Amino acid sequence: MAEITLTQTPAHIRMGSSIGQPLTRREGVLKTTGAALYAADHHPSGMAYAALAVSSIARGRVTFLDVAAARAHPGVIEVMTHANAPKLAQDPDAKLHPFMFRMELLQNDSVRYANQAIAVVVAETLEAATQGAALLAPRYDAAPARTGLDSVDSFTPQAVGPGSPAAESHGDSEAGFAAATSRIEAVYDTPAQYHNAMEPHAIVASWDGDTLSIDTPSQGMAMAQQRIAGLFGIAPENIHIRSPFLGGGFGSKGLISGPQLLGIMAARLVGRPVKLVLQRDQMFGPVGHRAPTRQTLCLGADEHGNLTAISHHAKTATSTFDDFIEPAANTSHSVYASPAITTAHEAVRIDTGTPLFMRAPGEAPGSAALECAIDEMAEACHMDPLAFRLKNYADVEPMTGKPFSSKALRECYQLGADRFGWANRKLAPRHMRDANGMLVCWGVGTAAFPALMFPAQAEAALRRDGSGMVAIGAHDMGQGAWTALAQIAADSLGLDQDRLEFRSGTSDLPDAGIAGGSAHTASAGNAIHSAGADVIGKLAALATSDEQSPLFGAGNAGVIARGGRLHRRDDETKSQAYGDILDRAGLAEITGSGAASPDQAAQSAYAMQAHGAVFAEVTVDPDFGQIRVTRLVGAFAAGTAINPRMVRSQYLGGMIWGVSFALHEHADIDRRSGRIMNANFGEYHVPVNADVPSIEAILVEERDAHVNALGIKGVGEIGITGTVGAIANAVWHATGMRVRRFPVTLDQLIGL
Ligand code: MOS
Repeated sequence: MAEITLTQTPAHIRMGSSIGQPLTRREGVLKTTGAALYAADHHPSGMAYAALAVSSIARGRVTFLDVAAARAHPGVIEVMTHANAPKLAQDPDAKLHPFMFRMELLQNDSVRYANQAIAVVVAETLEAATQGAALLAPRYDAAPARTGLDSVDSFTPQAVGPGSPAAESHGDSEAGFAAATSRIEAVYDTPAQYHNAMEPHAIVASWDGDTLSIDTPSQGMAMAQQRIAGLFGIAPENIHIRSPFLGGGFGSKGLISGPQLLGIMAARLVGRPVKLVLQRDQMFGPVGHRAPTRQTLCLGADEHGNLTAISHHAKTATSTFDDFIEPAANTSHSVYASPAITTAHEAVRIDTGTPLFMRAPGEAPGSAALECAIDEMAEACHMDPLAFRLKNYADVEPMTGKPFSSKALRECYQLGADRFGWANRKLAPRHMRDANGMLVCWGVGTAAFPALMFPAQAEAALRRDGSGMVAIGAHDMGQGAWTALAQIAADSLGLDQDRLEFRSGTSDLPDAGIAGGSAHTASAGNAIHSAGADVIGKLAALATSDEQSPLFGAGNAGVIARGGRLHRRDDETKSQAYGDILDRAGLAEITGSGAASPDQAAQSAYAMQAHGAVFAEVTVDPDFGQIRVTRLVGAFAAGTAINPRMVRSQYLGGMIWGVSFALHEHADIDRRSGRIMNANFGEYHVPVNADVPSIEAILVEERDAHVNALGIKGVGEIGITGTVGAIANAVWHATGMRVRRFPVTLDQLIGL
């Protein structure tokens, strides 16, 4: 399998430290010229095309497929159904750990949700495969679909998210509510949402005996390798995944999905390489989604405007056959100080594809509800909503009492408010109009996201010609991993960018951990940092023990690696080039490796979070209720910004997602059939350019010595949190109406 190496010189080269520089994307020219190959761009010789046939019912059995008609279509090679699909080495419904999802892989005739795969047609052309799939004319034995949060009895889940307790509490809630002089209780609804990356899930799979090579977008190649190995009964090292570029992931590519595995099965069945790409409507079902929630928040505050109690209950839905529970209520664990906090979850099992991590899983809907409730509480206390937040944000993590960097949050509030002009805000709603007579008002929301890290490994080398190499199987979803990780790599080896070869994007390289939980830069970056340190340490040992070296006797701790040379720390005029050191030692290169994982001691002593504050301006048409976001200012503190250009892009992307959540996205489920009625980009609305306002992200400087060696926190997901609430709160300020059902739409403002 070809190595993937991006040696292209970045546009901006700075001598010395790369970390902190706003370099443009290492792969930017490849992408803008179309030279970057995405999974579906691959065409190995002899490749056949596969098309998925999906179920139009949400529950029941497939009783008939016109396989003969499909097979008779010119160009069709094979039709894979439950009757002839390869048997797997492992039950796809087996679940050995929480990061293993149950899948339908044509091992039986059952249908568990609409848009589930029921057959795969393989043909010489995409057109023939697509037509073959259309000719299958399935018949079903259908049972009534269960949809929505009220269709069946609920249950208390054992765990939420990837394994957090479903209910937690601290303090005395009864006493907290009794002590409150103001109380609010409100119910917020968030809809099912579907992550639709620009690049749909796709796979090109080639078998060679028991060796499998695949091109497929993945946010977690090592986990995918393990999953495939288990299902097909082959060794993980026989599986070679290439995933250099993803056209977005958002969590939907974190775990390998059923359709990707069906592509691998089809390739095995026909004995040829096979390509399978999901159609846009097929993205609504088998590759995860954000579950709907109904969240009940009760808050109490005393006469000084201090919170006395928070109760956050979230009801959500999962599938009939798996257990992912959106951890929405847990958002209340970590933002606002209250002597009493209780959180709990409740769920129903309905006929839907299993929900999954979707950008800020838990935090996105949880913070939408919490930030609106905080606003309602501030109103009940007759306080400015920012002043109320400044009074009540937590100095220590409320649930655990562990300290965290809340000083940074205060700065986010202040810098954001100054930039936005919040001080001019009037307390009462509906007091401002613009020149066109539109109601125009302002809202605020607090942003927060945990600073996570996963175990990761990396390798590094320095060569006699003075160049260096870092290798790590990292994932670039578009967030800039090629660029930011290479910056860390260059600094870790004390090299300028143009002397660095950075290898990434395949499963043959060291496991970089999952690119999820906004943790990839922290996980992979710290592994790279440690691999580079390993190489430099070995090099320093050579130089300082060489009597001919200007560094002789400096000791390992006494050198600095910079610009391709080791320098004496106490006298930087004494230095030696890497090439010279290797030359004198008679070595062609020196290699090293490194690993990173969360520091257990630091984690038990400190709570780790990124923080922010988002300010929104909206206009509302007083006659028609049309809502426009006209201005967004977000200020975020998330530790070390490896590349401020990429960090800013992540914040902007998150805030635009917040606009989408607040005003646009909503999957409409037909209650009679259990089908999604708007499984397309015509009717499932996401913001277009015209919906995106003037938007600003302020990078608040923060040095957090505890999170990890490089002080990196995540920036990918935090932008959604805060933004949704800020927009909904601005709509209230503009109209005096509290809309508690997302997305906030004009029909809910009737009677304005
Ligand atoms: Mo994210 S939902 O952790 O890709």
